[in-house]
Amino acid sequence: MSISPLVLPLLLLLLHASRATHFYGTVMTFDPKDTQLNGAVTVKLRYKLNFRECRHSTSWGCLSGNCGTLRPTLQVVDEEDSGEWCQREGVMTQQLPNNAPFQLRLSGGNWISSIQNGIVAWRALTLVDLRNRSDTGRANRSPQTTILPAIRVPSNCARNFSLLTFDPDGDQVKCRNGSTTAGECNPCTPPSVLNLDPSCTLSFRPTNSSGEGPYAVQLVMEDFPNQSVTLTHTSGSQTNKTTSDPLSKLPVQFVVRVDPSVPSCSEGQYLPRFLPPTPAHRAQLYVPVGHTLLINVSTEATHSTVSDLLFSGPHNVIKSNTSVPEQFILSWTPTESENGENQPICFVVQALNNSRKYHSELRCVIVTVGIGPATTAEPSTTVPPGNATSYVVGLRVRLSSTTPLTDDDIGNVVLQQIKEQLVGQGLPADIALRLKSIS
Ligand SMILES: *[C@@H]1O[C@H](CO)[C@@H](O)[C@H](O)[C@H]1NC(C)=O
Ligand SMILES: *[C@@H]1O[C@H](CO)[C@@H](O)[C@H](O)[C@H]1NC(C)=O
Ligand SMILES: *[C@@H]1O[C@H](CO)[C@@H](O)[C@H](O)[C@H]1NC(C)=O
Ligand SMILES: *[C@@H]1O[C@H](CO)[C@@H](O)[C@H](O)[C@H]1NC(C)=O
Ligand SMILES: *[C@@H]1O[C@H](CO)[C@@H](O)[C@H](O)[C@H]1NC(C)=O
Ligand SMILES: *[C@@H]1O[C@H](CO)[C@@H](O)[C@H](O)[C@H]1NC(C)=O
Ligand SMILES: *[C@@H]1O[C@H](CO)[C@@H](O)[C@H](O)[C@H]1NC(C)=O
Ligand SMILES: *[C@@H]1O[C@H](CO)[C@@H](O)[C@H](O)[C@H]1NC(C)=O
Ligand SMILES: *[C@@H]1O[C@H](CO)[C@@H](O)[C@H](O)[C@H]1NC(C)=O
Ligand SMILES: *[C@@H]1O[C@H](CO)[C@@H](O)[C@H](O)[C@H]1NC(C)=O
Repeated sequence: MSISPLVLPLLLLLLHASRATHFYGTVMTFDPKDTQLNGAVTVKLRYKLNFRECRHSTSWGCLSGNCGTLRPTLQVVDEEDSGEWCQREGVMTQQLPNNAPFQLRLSGGNWISSIQNGIVAWRALTLVDLRNRSDTGRANRSPQTTILPAIRVPSNCARNFSLLTFDPDGDQVKCRNGSTTAGECNPCTPPSVLNLDPSCTLSFRPTNSSGEGPYAVQLVMEDFPNQSVTLTHTSGSQTNKTTSDPLSKLPVQFVVRVDPSVPSCSEGQYLPRFLPPTPAHRAQLYVPVGHTLLINVSTEATHSTVSDLLFSGPHNVIKSNTSVPEQFILSWTPTESENGENQPICFVVQALNNSRKYHSELRCVIVTVGIGPATTAEPSTTVPPGNATSYVVGLRVRLSSTTPLTDDDIGNVVLQQIKEQLVGQGLPADIALRLKSIS
C-alpha cells in the first residue's frame, strides 16, 4: 500500500490525538426512576469524566444487554486552578423496555503520563441490574460515591483515603481491586504504595523518593444484600442473590499523586486542616427541592497558603470563596428531577508553598434531596434572622409517613430528622427541639 505525502501528516495527527495522555479516571452510579405498567423502566446514570482539559472526551458504550440509546449531557463540575485537571459530570436518562441487566464500558487511551503502576490505556465497566428486589419491592439502587480526579500525599506521610460508600438500600458496600480478566481495567495492576481494605479505605504507607509520582487507582465498588434476595425480571423469571453476590458493580478510578517529602506531616502546618463548621466525613445532610444547602468549609495552614477548595459532586454545585481566604462555601439547590436522590459531594483543600501543592484529608458528605426517609415536615414559622444568643421558636409541623408512627418514633427519629434539616438550613448544631403537642 502506498500513502500519498498529503495523507501522511493527517494520519500522524490522528495517531497523535488518539495517544494523548490526559485521562484522570471516572466514577459511575445509577438511580432507578419509575417503572411503567408495561414493564418499561427508567434509570438515571450519572458519571464523572476526568481529563487534563475539559475539551478532552470519551464516551460509554454498551457492552451487554439493552442499554438504550446513550445520549449524555456533559457539564463541568470543577477545574483545578493551575489547569492540572477538569472534572465533568455526565447524565444519561435511559428508558428501557424491561428491567434486564446491562453493562456499560468506557475504553480508550491514555491515562496521564508516568503512571507509576504502569497503567496506560483506560477501561471501566458498570453493571446495572434493575430487576425487582424481593426485600425492597423495587429495583436496586447503586451505592453512591464520587472522587476527585487527583489526590496528593507527600511521600513521607501516612494517610488513609476513606471513600464514601453510601447505599440508599442499606446494602453492604465493598471495594476490591479491578479484575483484568473481567475487563474492568486494562490492566488492573494496583499501586504498590496503597493498601486497599474491603471497606473502601486506601491506606498509604510512607515511602522513599523512589515511590514518588502519580498512581492510577482502579477499584470496583459493589453492594451486597444483607440477606438473600430474589430478583424478578419483567417477564416473571426469578434469580436468587446471596449475601456474597454483588447487585451492582461500579468503577471508581482516579489518580493518587505521591509528592516529594514535606518537613512536617502534621495537619495544619503544610497540609491544611479542616476546622469547624466543616461537616464531618460521611455526614448525611438533607435539603428539600428548590432550597439551597450551604456547606461551609473552614481550614487553616500555618506553613502554606490555602488557595482553593477542590470538589466533586453534582455539576450544579456552586463553589464560592469568602472574604476570608481559608473559608469556602459550596451551595447546591437541587431541582425537581433530583427529588429523592442521594448525592455525594467530596472535597479537599489545596494549599501552596513555593509552587508545591498540599492537600488536606478527603471529606465527603451525602446529601439527601427531599426530607429524611419516610417523613415530610413543613415548618410553618420562619426563624427570625439575627445573632442573639438564644431564641425560642414555635414550629407547627405536618408529618406524613408510609408506616404508623409511635410517640417514640416522633421523639427519637422525627425530631432528629427535623433538627438535621434545620441545621442543614444554617441553624447552629446545638439547637434543642422538643415536642409540645400532637393534634
Ligand atoms: C416489585 O415486587 C413487589 C412485590 O414484591 C410488587 O409489589 C411491586 O409492584 C413490584 N414492582 C415492580 C416495579 O414490578
Ligand atoms: C489509618 O487507618 C488505620 C486503621 O483504622 C489506623 O490504624 C491508622 O492509624 C490510620 N492512619 C492514619 C494516617 O490516619
Ligand atoms: C445491612 O447491614 C448493615 C451492616 O451490618 C447495616 O448497617 C444495615 O442497616 C443493614 N441494612 C438493612 C436494610 O438491613
Ligand atoms: C488489592 O491488591 C493489593 C495488591 O495486589 C493487595 O495487597 C490487596 O489485598 C488487594 N485488596 C483487595 C481488597 O482485594
Ligand atoms: C527505596 O525503597 C525501596 C524499597 O522499599 C528500595 O528498594 C530502594 O532502594 C529505596 N531507594 C532509595 C533511593 O533509598
Ligand atoms: C430462591 O430461593 C427461594 C427461597 O429462598 C426458593 O424457594 C427458590 O426455589 C429459589 N429460586 C431459584 C431460582 O433458585
Ligand atoms: C514555605 O515553606 C518554607 C520552608 O519550609 C517556610 O519557611 C515558609 O514560611 C513557608 N511559606 C509560607 C507562605 O507559609
Ligand atoms: C474569590 O475568587 C475570585 C474568582 O476566582 C477572585 O477573583 C477573588 O480574588 C477571590 N477572593 C478572595 C477573597 O480570595
Ligand atoms: C450581631 O453581632 C454583631 C457583632 O457581633 C453586632 O454588631 C450586631 O448588633 C448583632 N446583631 C443583633 C441582631 O444582635
Ligand atoms: C455558613 O456560611 C454562611 C455565609 O457566610 C452563614 O450565613 C452561615 O451561618 C454559615 N453556616 C454555618 C453552619 O456555619
